[in-house]
Amino acid sequence: MTTRFRFVPPAGTPVSLSDVASSIGTALVRRDTVEGFTADLCERVGVRHCEFVSTGRAALTLALLALKELDGGKRNEVVIPSYTCFSVPSSVVKAGLRVRLVDIDPATLDFVPSSLNQIDGKRVLAVVATNLYGMPNDMAAIAQITKDRGVYLIDDAAQCLGGSIGGRPSGTWGDVGLYSFDKGKNVTSIDGGVLLTDSTQVAGAIKRQVQDLRRSTVGESVSHLVKLLVYAAFLHPRRYWLPNSLPFLGLGMTAYRTDYPLAQYDRWMAPLGRRLFARLDVVAAQRRAAAERYQSVLPWGSKLRAVDSRLGAVPAYLRYPVLVDADYRQKVLMALQRHGIGATTSYPGAINDIPELQNLLQIEDRIAPGGQDLARRILTLPTHGYVTDKDQSRIAVVMADALAG
Ligand SMILES: Cc1ncc(COP(=O)(O)O)c(C=O)c1O
Repeated sequence: MTTRFRFVPPAGTPVSLSDVASSIGTALVRRDTVEGFTADLCERVGVRHCEFVSTGRAALTLALLALKELDGGKRNEVVIPSYTCFSVPSSVVKAGLRVRLVDIDPATLDFVPSSLNQIDGKRVLAVVATNLYGMPNDMAAIAQITKDRGVYLIDDAAQCLGGSIGGRPSGTWGDVGLYSFDKGKNVTSIDGGVLLTDSTQVAGAIKRQVQDLRRSTVGESVSHLVKLLVYAAFLHPRRYWLPNSLPFLGLGMTAYRTDYPLAQYDRWMAPLGRRLFARLDVVAAQRRAAAERYQSVLPWGSKLRAVDSRLGAVPAYLRYPVLVDADYRQKVLMALQRHGIGATTSYPGAINDIPELQNLLQIEDRIAPGGQDLARRILTLPTHGYVTDKDQSRIAVVMADALAG
């Protein structure tokens, strides 16, 4: 088969038509779909309080609003990594708080510890660790720093469900954690997010934030159902080339936006999330196997470096990140895409390069060499269940060719 008609999507998780039919059937006959998913999630990750909401960014915004309320509005700065998903700074701004950046080390995608050490506990309300691409940050070290300064810690595991570090699931470190169930995640319900905490006090503040959230509208539920059908039908590499060749769909585009709703989780989508969640171990093991294979077959060298996982980490590998010499990255990307592989250069830039944030950042945060270096070198490779051994061997050969010369 020519690669013209086979394109491996950059992210996503296989959803079969029987998953779709069974989930819709469950939603038709049961009203307690969200409660069931809540119970499964709390039990699996071992936390006492889980609160589902409309999206991961809504979860992060509500977490910050809850912590702001507990703090009595005394501190208004939130530390985030200099390179991460744009939903992270947008959630901070939406919560009426101020973005502060701590630079990251491209070799680990984690905060530079000496920079994190300098945060001021009198002004910083919370630190958000973002476990990029499903690679857990060094949460014990970060938790120690935040504890010493009396700063709240948010373990944003939007990308890291199924990962762990030090034997503890990602998302359960810190005062509050979160997961996302959007289309690119290893457990999806098209949209969705959940906040988790073990603290009664934090859980109370979260409850106060979520109690008046509106339900999803009929239009939103219909849109979710249509998206789900399209997703289930077109994620397969034999069909993904079609939506991928329609630029107006804007697949994989990242935009900085704060106009998303804060709403309840769509109960029509909960059975799908719950069904896929029951497969988490299989999905995570398969992604780790894909990562191990990349480790053994990719043409490592001075132009292609791996990202180190932190000691004691079991990554979820939502994607497999590599660092490519900046002079070669575009060539490698184009070659992979020509061969039907959905490699990406991830987010368009570092957080301090987002135009909408320019007037909101402090002068010292406008320079973040680690984040900016990463933005020039990062390349992500797919790890989902549709990636075959043959795809991975092809990726290795195509990358070696593109990096030669
Ligand atoms: C680290 C991080 N936090 C929050 C979010 C927001 O999640 P959602 O897309 O469900 O709004 C994302 C999105 O991928 C993310 O990567």
